[in-house]
Amino acid sequence: MHEFRYRRNTLYCEDVSVFDLADRFGTPLFVYSYHTVIDHYVKLQKAFGPANPLICYSVKANSNLAVLKALIDKGAGLDVVSGGELFRAFKAGCPAQRIVYASVGKTEGEIEEAVRRGILFFNVESTPELNAINRISKKLRKVTAVALRINPDVEPKTHKFITTGKITNKFGIDFASAESLLLKAHAFSHVTIKALHIHIGSQITESGPFVSAISRMVRLIRRLNNRGVRIEYLNIGGGLGIVYDKEAPQTASAFASKILPLIKESGLKIILEPGRFIVGNAGILVTKILYVKETRRKTFLIVDAGMNDLIRPALYDAYHRVIPVKVKKSRLHTKGIIADVVGPICESGDFLAKDRKLPALHEGEYLAVMGAGAYGFSMSSNYNSRRRAEEVMIVKDRVFVIRKRESLEDLVRNENIPPFLLGL
Ligand code: LLP
Repeated sequence: MHEFRYRRNTLYCEDVSVFDLADRFGTPLFVYSYHTVIDHYVKLQKAFGPANPLICYSVKANSNLAVLKALIDKGAGLDVVSGGELFRAFKAGCPAQRIVYASVGKTEGEIEEAVRRGILFFNVESTPELNAINRISKKLRKVTAVALRINPDVEPKTHKFITTGKITNKFGIDFASAESLLLKAHAFSHVTIKALHIHIGSQITESGPFVSAISRMVRLIRRLNNRGVRIEYLNIGGGLGIVYDKEAPQTASAFASKILPLIKESGLKIILEPGRFIVGNAGILVTKILYVKETRRKTFLIVDAGMNDLIRPALYDAYHRVIPVKVKKSRLHTKGIIADVVGPICESGDFLAKDRKLPALHEGEYLAVMGAGAYGFSMSSNYNSRRRAEEVMIVKDRVFVIRKRESLEDLVRNENIPPFLLGL
């Protein structure tokens, strides 16, 4: 479900015209539907209801404070991966006991902050990291709860850059090492290993890879139980795929109906870490056509959003639907075009869509790049000294600016010219 629909030939987000938003706030502009975010969260929560899961929304997908606060208010926890995301989590008012913290490269300072705050779990990715958490906890006179992130070595059938649960990936600890670590867990005086964690990849559209990874985990937990090691929680990660093009991903309830039976008998508490599933289709990127450039071989729609705003097409060859914000009746009977939708950045990789069939469009018209709610703004940059876009959240007919467009001064705010270059 998402709240982006045409009404009288104009694209709406909930009850607000996207055309009016683009006119009022300028482009590039990210537009998010509050109710879509919440609907996705609630769907997952309901589907896993019998297991009473803690859903830790993955902050990296879209880390705007307003998005975080909206989800926290509905009972969500957060999955963070850096000191910066931890800061955001607290800034948005997330209780520490609803925060889990993954990342292969947590620094001393980051660990210290999370230990002090008493988060629910660190998702520990290696033995040296476990040693570091133990040492820092001892220094702070705390006992810290951790989950071991297991690399279950399964093939998630997704893009290689977003595959994380193969043994050749840098993430997690292999089964044998994890097992021996758990059996000598008493050697770590200031950590308790309460949970196991997996995250096998992202944009996974079928439940098979999840089922095989989770089954392996349940077997491991049973083996450990038999040897006196008790695991309280299983964190099954994120990775649920969404529709960008013609995918037919599993629904929340279909997914839950495959997973719940696997853990039913175990008495394990469940944590999920979805990112894309919650926000992916809750956001669009609105952009304006600057020029229509015809070459002998191709038509280019040159727009004012680029790879700095949405890097997914350049980085993963990702498909995002591109649609006009206004459907013009006059062109219904005219021949369409095949065009590349490209940004203004000085790189050939700066495209949003390739060889796309579109109606005949003109300069000044607005386009909506769909499915831009996850890994859109959060991966955006200032490359080519472009100001990062404005973000608005729509709640029925109300419009809230949740991040204003950066100013030119913002671009140079932390830069200094050394005195010698100023002749001083
Ligand atoms: N948990 C962990 C430990 C993760 O590493 C990730 C994503 C998630 C949860 C959330 O995954 P999701 O439910 O959103 O699939 N930039 C890429 C996606 C990278 C995902 C990284 N990890 C993209 O735009 O497709």
